[in-house]
Amino acid sequence: MSAPNSDYDPVEVTPLHPDEIARVVREALDAVAGAVTLAELKQVRLDHAGDRSPLALANREIGALPPQARKEAGQRVGQARGEVNRAIAERTAALEVAEKAARLAAETVDVTLPVDREPVGARHPITTIQETVADIFVAMGWEVAEGPEVEAEWLNFDALNLGPDHPARTMQDTFWIKSGESASQESGMVLRTHTSPVQARTMLTRTPPIYVVCPGRVYRTDEADATHMPVFHQVEGLAIDRGLSMAHLKGTLDHFARAIYGAGMTTRFRPSYFPFTEPSAEVDLLCYVCHNDPGAVAGCRTCGGEGWVEWGGCGVVNPRVLVACGVDPEEFSGFAFGMGLDRTITSRYDIADLRDLWDGDIRFTEPFGVGL
Ligand code: DAH
Repeated sequence: MSAPNSDYDPVEVTPLHPDEIARVVREALDAVAGAVTLAELKQVRLDHAGDRSPLALANREIGALPPQARKEAGQRVGQARGEVNRAIAERTAALEVAEKAARLAAETVDVTLPVDREPVGARHPITTIQETVADIFVAMGWEVAEGPEVEAEWLNFDALNLGPDHPARTMQDTFWIKSGESASQESGMVLRTHTSPVQARTMLTRTPPIYVVCPGRVYRTDEADATHMPVFHQVEGLAIDRGLSMAHLKGTLDHFARAIYGAGMTTRFRPSYFPFTEPSAEVDLLCYVCHNDPGAVAGCRTCGGEGWVEWGGCGVVNPRVLVACGVDPEEFSGFAFGMGLDRTITSRYDIADLRDLWDGDIRFTEPFGVGL
């Protein structure tokens, strides 16, 4: 093995030459100063301070030097590497501060700016009144019942004492559901003409006492015009218990009317006929505009000078209906009522055209409030 070359001059090893080292350092410092992001600086570190950087290569040359030359060369390279590493550390700190400041600036939220108001619409008055009605009865301990809009003919008519030949069947112009391909064949199914079949469904599936209300959509073959629609809304009520009478019915409807129209409201009954109730009555509301006030009633447009406006039908449940629905009329009796909700809204808010309820125009629903 040959001895180290004692005459070896480190200055002649190019990578260790002071000028070369100074050049490499300058290049590194320029690159560090030129890095404007931390990502760029990372690459600069690899190029100028990494394992394959000129200074690392120079460092490796030191081992090949004669011992007496190593110290000086080592110091030179060490200082150079220290200088480059310090510059990188300083630049890193500066860029970290700058990048954080930039991120914070970008994420700044001006809480004083006005909010971007998207119109959110409003609840439809039909929805609102259905929920109001349900709430009024639920507060008295009643339950909300539901039934399908495509209903069995038997439940819509027969169970309610409207037999096949009953003249009252023609009172309600029915949409029949076709069966299969044949247009003429009826399926025994109808679009329910009233919410009363929910009465039958409820009695058939529950045992008394029963107290239910049922708001829902109903259908009749009416042409759509300002005062008629082939689809409209009703709310049905049914109470079955021991000892219920017409008096309980009157008290319930008076409470219902006051809950909607205020404390001064009252109802009146006029004798009427429905196959499913006996006795039956039409129920009127005291006119909520003129209050049947002698000074105002004559010219009142809402009630047409009557002092009362029609609200719905009601009565004591016909024992035949109880029997058809499996309730013992010797033990139980009950009352029922049904009223239209669409007219309640149009007359209450002076809406001239029933079709406005169906147009889906949010300019119509918005004044009813309760933005979502
Ligand atoms: N179902 C009737 C109709 O649509 C309204 C009605 C009348 C319902 C009397 C009732 C009632 O529950 O007892 O015209």
